[in-house]
Amino acid sequence: MIGLLDSGLGGVSVLREIIKVIPKGHFIYYSDSLNNPYGNKSEEEVYLLVKDIVNYFRERGVKAIVIACNTASAICVKRLREEYKDILFIAIEPAYKMVHDYNPLGKTLVMATVGTLKSEKFLALYHKYDNQKTILLPCESLAELIEEDKGEEIDRYLEEQLKNYKDVDNVVLGCTHYPLIKDKIKKVLGDVKFFDGAIGVSKELVRQLELRGLDYKNEKLQIEFIDSSGDNNKYARFKKYLELN
Ligand code: DGL
Repeated sequence: MIGLLDSGLGGVSVLREIIKVIPKGHFIYYSDSLNNPYGNKSEEEVYLLVKDIVNYFRERGVKAIVIACNTASAICVKRLREEYKDILFIAIEPAYKMVHDYNPLGKTLVMATVGTLKSEKFLALYHKYDNQKTILLPCESLAELIEEDKGEEIDRYLEEQLKNYKDVDNVVLGCTHYPLIKDKIKKVLGDVKFFDGAIGVSKELVRQLELRGLDYKNEKLQIEFIDSSGDNNKYARFKKYLELN
């Protein structure tokens, strides 16, 4: 069993990619939408929330956990790896290195939560690959609007926040909720190149599972969905975003 966690439905954008490389996996997806957003919380608050989910996964016998939330990864993964030595943690991060690898000369906009952008982990990544043409844009409350499916408010938010960046070439989607509104971002910014961490996470997950000899192959695809808010609409939206035929 592989556990995935996020502060809500955003991690679906990661699970979608993982299913492409592990089509017959057994996954438990934990959406902590009761506590969404994580992006404006203190590091300690986020850590304690994530730790509870990790403990839950552990009780269920999960050996590998994907932190499908950039904010939680940026804040917690170092501590979690120290504390839970028996668990494999795969952590997403904003795909800024991909910009360096694929389009380093392009003007770049990094969209992420406040928590991610001010974290030590992200700042180290940013300084390592800084192309001197990068804008870091904290998108306060955007993940929350997406989580609540507020279509028109999202459009207004993007028009307002992105209006000064219509000349960018690259957009790093540094929060797992943002790939769910790629079309809306495109409407404002035009034909930009998008970068997100989901493909990197999927490859790293398979690599580490193989390396550690962890059994991850199942007879068929099985996905268990848990949402901490108890909102019945979440599961329907989760399935829609997963785009499974
Ligand atoms: N999906 C989370 C991330 O990748 C959302 C953050 C939030 O809850 O504020 O950062």
